[in-house]
Amino acid sequence: MEKKKNEIQNQFEMNQARLQALFDAITDLVFMADSDFNPQLVNKQLDFAGKKCYEAFCGLSEPCSICLVDEVKLTHKPAKTERKINNKIYQATFYPILNEGGAVNDVIEIVRDVTKEKEIEQQLIQSDRLISLGGLVSGIAHEINNPNTFIRGNLSIIKESLEDILPVLDQHWSENPDFKVARLPYRYFREKILLLVSDMQKGADKIMNIVSDLRKFARKDEGLLDEDLDLNRVVESSLRLVHNQIKRSIEVQLKLDQKLPLIKGNVQKIEQVLVNIILNAAQAIKEQKGKKTGQIIIRTFLDQKNQIHLRIKDNGPGMTEDVKNRVFDPFFTTKRSRQGTGLGLSITYGFVEEHGGKISVVSHPGKGSEFKIMLPMRVPKMT
Ligand SMILES: Nc1ncnc2c1ncn2[C@@H]1O[C@H](COP(=O)(O)OP(=O)(O)OP(=O)(O)O)[C@@H](O)[C@H]1O
Ligand SMILES: [Mg+2]
Repeated sequence: MEKKKNEIQNQFEMNQARLQALFDAITDLVFMADSDFNPQLVNKQLDFAGKKCYEAFCGLSEPCSICLVDEVKLTHKPAKTERKINNKIYQATFYPILNEGGAVNDVIEIVRDVTKEKEIEQQLIQSDRLISLGGLVSGIAHEINNPNTFIRGNLSIIKESLEDILPVLDQHWSENPDFKVARLPYRYFREKILLLVSDMQKGADKIMNIVSDLRKFARKDEGLLDEDLDLNRVVESSLRLVHNQIKRSIEVQLKLDQKLPLIKGNVQKIEQVLVNIILNAAQAIKEQKGKKTGQIIIRTFLDQKNQIHLRIKDNGPGMTEDVKNRVFDPFFTTKRSRQGTGLGLSITYGFVEEHGGKISVVSHPGKGSEFKIMLPMRVPKMT
């Protein structure tokens, strides 16, 4: 009898140990709480004795705002929610445990850190959005480019014609002081007409530049990725390109890893990536109230997976969460009144992706911004 009792006791302890081992093997936080928020079982080494689950796990004095225990008690169905704590995103799933009478006494909650998954999801949404926009944008660029080409061509013919015609009109005016053109007194017309034409030419040139940016964004501007590219040298050549625009307001610090391997890619495109980011940083610093000068730190290094990293960090005003989430969107700009088109960073994003790389940004208001670029040593074959 005693032997039988010991066997049952051993069996029970073994099962309990197995259950605990199974429970502990789960890397997510799993815990069971009763409907009064008292933890019953937890798979992590947490001291929850005498504490409610919201006190033990979240350090709160009342149930978390996203707690679904009450909902699960009511519906008897599992429910899921997400919460951001200290820049990490957690997903919590609540499962009801029904007692024999069919009521919910306990609830199991599984909490997973889904920060990485969310980042990847965000990147996929971003590239999907950019791919579909790419098609649309290249169509629009084509439609704008055709009429703009003949507008530019015709304007230079008009300008040349005016230069020939105006002396004849001057002569006519000297003999007919009331002479009018387009209902305007000739003196006024004479003063303004060449200015109007040259303004139109400037406008048409601006449209041409925007079309060229749109094409770059839509990747119609085929540039082969077949050059042996030394990233450090490209950093230096990009700095030479922007030198005049930033020399008075920005101190640039270089921390370049001199042992970087070469990348197969397109020098001009990576130069453009750097120029866009550096100019944005310089513009942001200049716009900051009470601060006329700033610092940009450019760093390159190789990681253990042989991926090449480029970091561009500024001590400008930083960005709000809303701006940060939209910086790579085509046409998103906070500089509309200062002629920004909002294409700089979307082109940058496209070029980095074309090289098989990744780009992201870390930024907080008042704490500057850092653009992080990763480039693989080899690029995927062009299709
Ligand atoms: N280093 C930075 N600091 C603060 N804000 C930035 C920084 N870089 C980019 N931004 C924000 O991102 C927006 C989009 O940048 P993007 O380069 O795509 O367009 P833009 O600079 O406004 O115009 P464009 O480059 O076409 O002339 C900017 O308007 C600005 O609000
Ligand atoms: Mg820009």
